[in-house]
Amino acid sequence: MSLSGKKILIAVSGGIAAYKIHFLIRDFVKKGAEIQVIMTPDAENFVTKLSISTLSKKPVYTDFYSDNGTWNSHVEMALWADVMIVTPCTANTLAKMVHGMCDNLVIATYMSAKCPVFIAPAMDLDMYAHPSTKKNLELAESFKHIIIPAENGELASGLIGQGRMAEPETIAKRIEDFFNSTIEKTLEGKTVLITAGPTYEALDPVRFIGNHSSGKMGFSLAEEASKRGAKVILISGPSSQIINDKNVELHKVTSAKEMLAKVFEFYDTIDIGIASAAVADYAPKEVAKEKIKKNDDNPTIELIKNPDILKTMGEKKTHQFLVGFALETQNEEENAKGKLEKKNLDMIVLNSLRDEGAGFKNDTNKIKIFTKTGKKEFTLKSKEDVAKDILDFVEVQLLK
Ligand code: PMT
Repeated sequence: MSLSGKKILIAVSGGIAAYKIHFLIRDFVKKGAEIQVIMTPDAENFVTKLSISTLSKKPVYTDFYSDNGTWNSHVEMALWADVMIVTPCTANTLAKMVHGMCDNLVIATYMSAKCPVFIAPAMDLDMYAHPSTKKNLELAESFKHIIIPAENGELASGLIGQGRMAEPETIAKRIEDFFNSTIEKTLEGKTVLITAGPTYEALDPVRFIGNHSSGKMGFSLAEEASKRGAKVILISGPSSQIINDKNVELHKVTSAKEMLAKVFEFYDTIDIGIASAAVADYAPKEVAKEKIKKNDDNPTIELIKNPDILKTMGEKKTHQFLVGFALETQNEEENAKGKLEKKNLDMIVLNSLRDEGAGFKNDTNKIKIFTKTGKKEFTLKSKEDVAKDILDFVEVQLLK
């Protein structure tokens, strides 16, 4: 989840575009952000507190006081936020913001905020083009606020022109880019190769031997390494995970043999190799050309050993820092340490299927990391946070 743990304060003012806020909140929540929504009194004419609080999972405030007599502290909300977004921002709210006309909760909160402020204006085209709006947007920029310009298109008035609030995806992307740009580029200049997902070993044109790996762990590692400035080569078996990141080169493969070949296309050029793929240890000896027909026999499949990709990486290691994974169901620590040694690794990440929420498919994982001399244990976390822990650990080892 790319916005995991980020605190986003959304201020909604009263314009027809307020309906789009539902999509934005849903997207932010899906990406792991914590959302607090405040609204101007007028915004309630366009969206309800109920629909927004249901999506944001928190009460929505429009006034300094709630009906039960509690004080909704604008200062607390402002200082809580990592970013504040005013969206849709009407001409009226924009004017109040830049001139300090503090007559509602949104403006009082805005004026108490120390975090970066994003403004997504929305209004009719003539209002957007008016010199007073232009001047107010310039003023907002001079306060170092970030403007997400209104888009061209059909407006609520039926007129066509610039004034539509930016689409929720555009706003979400700007916020994500902002958070990514604040991450320290600790892996700048490094090339990281990551294997991910399962491998499928064909039996015939329609069947295969595979496993439950979704690719989530490997894709999370790729995203995190890229955020830290690395060039990432992600080699994945069949997976429905997607990645849109110009620093990540995705190579899709199917079988262990294909994965091995792809890894060794790049192996000499990489600084760090992380093997999170669940590679099938065996493949059918023969792959039938046609679909195997059902009959009354109990067929036997003869298997042959697949190449051990990580072991081969360990044997050919010159300068690469190698990280393996161990997926275990028993004697976990002993088996993981055995693999660390046997495959000539610098560290190994153990996850056990005996831990609830760990291993395959889940959005979470629980790991222990072993080096030749040390061990560190982590709690159950999202795979994004596990990826951060792993890369933090790698970075510490690289400095040694
Ligand atoms: O994809 P997800 O659903 O998010 O699940 C993540 C995961 C559980 C697959 C991941 O966290 C994980 O544990 N990956 C390694 C799974 C595995 O195959 O473990 P292993 O103990 O069998 O293999 C040890 C190491 O050797 C692994 O780094 C593996 O990539 C590598 N290996 C194994 C066999 C082989 N033929 N070639 C290899 O490179």
